[in-house]
Amino acid sequence: MRRAAIKSLAAYVPPRLLTNADLEKLVDTSDEWILQRTGIRERHIVEPGVATSDLAKEAALGAIERAGLTPDDIDVIIVGTVTPDMFFPSTACLVQEKIGASRAWGFDLSAACSAFTYALTVGAQLVASHAATHVLVIGADVMSSIIDYTDRATCVIFGDGAGAVVVGPSDETGLGLLDFEHEIDGSGGSALCMPAGGSQRPASHATVDERLHYVKQEGQTVFKFAVRKTGDVCERLLRRNGVTAADLDLFVSHQANRRIIMSAAERLGLPEEKVIINIDRFGNTTAATIPLALADAVDQQRLKRGDLVLLASVGAGFTVGAVLVRWAI
Ligand code: UT7
Repeated sequence: MRRAAIKSLAAYVPPRLLTNADLEKLVDTSDEWILQRTGIRERHIVEPGVATSDLAKEAALGAIERAGLTPDDIDVIIVGTVTPDMFFPSTACLVQEKIGASRAWGFDLSAACSAFTYALTVGAQLVASHAATHVLVIGADVMSSIIDYTDRATCVIFGDGAGAVVVGPSDETGLGLLDFEHEIDGSGGSALCMPAGGSQRPASHATVDERLHYVKQEGQTVFKFAVRKTGDVCERLLRRNGVTAADLDLFVSHQANRRIIMSAAERLGLPEEKVIINIDRFGNTTAATIPLALADAVDQQRLKRGDLVLLASVGAGFTVGAVLVRWAI
């Protein structure tokens, strides 16, 4: 086995902004409520006709170029998403065609908000086992395609975006993906889901009339689970690796709610300057939040080669993930 590392990173959001003021015109909400309860000021959403593969393509090409590679160098494409362009073919196939990655195979990975941490882990294992040299790991979602803009409980939360990394062999011992800790808990399935459109409740006039092709969330249930579990998996991962809060340089959590992130950071004993928060500008972009946050950290020079970074996520399923990374770029 060899160690795998993130060799490059790029993120992309569509240009169109949806602000809290815009949402005040659509549903009974307020900028104050949204900001106080979630930390979100604005999010980006696509124009009609723009799909997940389009956002993924932009991020993917950026990551490949920054790695000093061409699309032909990519062996595997993994796309984490809950908003594939279609049920099939996979979004990985569509991205492969759009970027011209002529040698690649690949697949979509369904783990909702944990899709990036899971896809990164899978990609790293393929590199570590010598099954692949360069894996393109993408987290991308067009959440606006499955959001009910008459439901104030969900429409204020989500945004669209994509992030991509190229995972390859580490060029220095000690740099790269060090360890991970993931779990799923299917008992939470109904707390956050899109009820219809699958094999259980295929699309019909009735499912459309009942608005079942949109995200449904029991906010409080998910909130409590996320607060507890983010702390649990992170603590287990840090303990196993003999890492303390003082050793960590950065905590990059899934951006679902500012309060969830800060309560996890507090439990881990991390000061605010070690926490990346960008939910204010992007909302919850599901599979894209962690690469978008990593890209911000790099842009703000808060993440540099050799830094110890803890990634964490909780999402629909429930899915829970944490990855410990010694940053290699
Ligand atoms: O990324 C996937 C994982 N997802 C998450 O981690 C999300 C976890 N959940 C949350 O972040 C929070 O539960 C929400 C942000 C979704 C909701 O915040 P909350 O503090 O849990 O609010 P709540 O659902 O308990 O609702 C409190 C009140 C209710 O009114 P009443 O019953 O007290 O009169 C809601 O009807 O706020 C009301 N409300 C709103 N008011 C204004 C709900 N949504 C809105 C809104 N604007 N958009």
